[in-house]
Amino acid sequence: MLAIPLLVASLCVLALGKPMGRNLQLHEAREAIPEGFSLHGTPSGETSLKLRIALVQGDFAGLEQKLYDVSDPSSPNYGNHLSTAEVVKYVAPAPATVDAVNAWLAENDITAKTISPAGDWMSFEVPVSKANELFDADFSVFTHESTGKQYIRTLSYSIPAELQGHLELVHPTVSFPDPLAGRPVVRVSSSETSKKRAARDLTARAIPASCATTITPACLQAIYNIPSTPATVSSNKLAVSAFEGENANQADLKAFLTKFRPDMSPSTTFTTQTLDDGNNNQDPSEAGLEANLDIQYTVGLATDVPTVFVDVGDDTHDGELIGFLDIINFLLAEDAPPQVLTTSYGQSEFFVSRNLAVNLCRAHAQLGARGVSILFASGDGGVSGGHTSSCTTFVPVWPSGCPYVTSVGATTSFGPETAADFSSGGFSNYFTAPSYQEADVKAYIASLGSTYSGLYNASGRGFPDVAAQGVNFDVIVDGTELPVDGTSCSSPTFASVVALLNDRLAAQGKPALGFLNPFLYSAKGRAALNDITTGSNPGCNTTGFAAGSGWDPVTGLGTPDFEKLLAAVL
Ligand SMILES: *[C@@H]1O[C@H](CO)[C@@H](O)[C@H](O)[C@H]1NC(C)=O
Ligand SMILES: *[C@@H]1O[C@H](CO)[C@@H](O)[C@H](O)[C@H]1NC(C)=O
Repeated sequence: MLAIPLLVASLCVLALGKPMGRNLQLHEAREAIPEGFSLHGTPSGETSLKLRIALVQGDFAGLEQKLYDVSDPSSPNYGNHLSTAEVVKYVAPAPATVDAVNAWLAENDITAKTISPAGDWMSFEVPVSKANELFDADFSVFTHESTGKQYIRTLSYSIPAELQGHLELVHPTVSFPDPLAGRPVVRVSSSETSKKRAARDLTARAIPASCATTITPACLQAIYNIPSTPATVSSNKLAVSAFEGENANQADLKAFLTKFRPDMSPSTTFTTQTLDDGNNNQDPSEAGLEANLDIQYTVGLATDVPTVFVDVGDDTHDGELIGFLDIINFLLAEDAPPQVLTTSYGQSEFFVSRNLAVNLCRAHAQLGARGVSILFASGDGGVSGGHTSSCTTFVPVWPSGCPYVTSVGATTSFGPETAADFSSGGFSNYFTAPSYQEADVKAYIASLGSTYSGLYNASGRGFPDVAAQGVNFDVIVDGTELPVDGTSCSSPTFASVVALLNDRLAAQGKPALGFLNPFLYSAKGRAALNDITTGSNPGCNTTGFAAGSGWDPVTGLGTPDFEKLLAAVL
């Protein structure tokens, strides 16, 4: 007799113990702690968490349609890129969404601030205990084993039923940072680096005469028919992104131009925009290999195109998302954003949740609709993605899997070029193949037959889209020449070609190329690229995908030919 009322009583307590008796519904979950991380423990309930929430956008489908309309060379609206205000109209959350989220924030005494131009992202700070309650989460401390870095994350979270359809995601929750996110591979052994080489007199050191062993701007100009004729349009800009406090050094650029572009003024330089506490420190010892590579192979290749170094510091506001969201929101807010953006950072897709990957991809669609060509290095781990050494399935790279960006793989040699064996490529698990490449992806997968079946996602967006040289680039860092490999070399190279095309277009009063893929995959576009048909990208204990005739997930459609591309776009 006594047992029953007691049981009922304790059930009541349990029900009341649920956060505010709300009807919370599971929103995002991750099956397991991602590879490379381990659970460390529980943070103090008072620990402050900076959370960001993404509100469902009003009409993304409308924006996407518009993006393709202005980016497809066969459309009458080709090149009619959108203004900030026009983009905002599509992506601003609907009034009902704003009301629902504001009501929920007020009910929970949370003061949030809007952190994106369209008002679709907000941020607020709450203690861990409150975050656990609000989202039925279990925020814990996770340690990244090889770097020792610690992060507070939860493996699942829920949102109130009344916010379904209004709240897209909460971040950072189930997305983990990839502390080994893609960086260039320096081929020299570390013992042979800086100190010893810095002692040498730069000008006295003979440059290897042949492009077969060292790639310099002159090599790329020759291989890809890139002109050395200076650009003339000052409103045409090329932006290089930098993250994690990487600095691009002006003195190194000067030394680079003096040595490799004697036809250019050695004082040709770049402008800098900073966010998140980036400062582009000019102390020679603080020069970043990645940043110097990216700047030297844009300023040094896109002759006289005004180049902007967008320096995202360590104080990111996007929840350890490297600054990827911050830089897009920063550029979206500009009246005249740079027409080309190259990024040599990326990470394995699985670290980022599907909702977050989709959201960030949509931010890139917004910038694309503004007329910006967005290029990303495809990654340096072959089919294993970033730098994952062990893998049971192939690892797609993010954001290369986003259909609104142009992913750039790597090649080596010339006459003919062949795929560089580290060139990442494959198929996204989060994005389906967009219509512009559907036939290419189908044809490639058909050619595979049952090979690698189960190791890759046959319905995914394939990457990379294109490729460029990526081996043995001569880069000057702290006064020292270093040979560098990686798709980090390829993205700035391709971006420079696009920036020079934009200069010639602008000189004729024509709009910039904007989102490139519909053009690249068109008959005209692909005919202006050099199809790379040999090589492969090994990884995960396999020989990887093979390059072949037509699009392939190693070198995409191929490498640029400036003269042919110029003829195609004019
Ligand atoms: C690769 O294959 C070898 C031999 O089958 C095996 O011992 C090894 O564990 C595999 N490595 C990975 C990363 O799967
Ligand atoms: C494969 O891709 C599709 C389309 O993006 C997706 O719905 C599916 O979940 C993916 N499969 C896996 C195993 O990730």
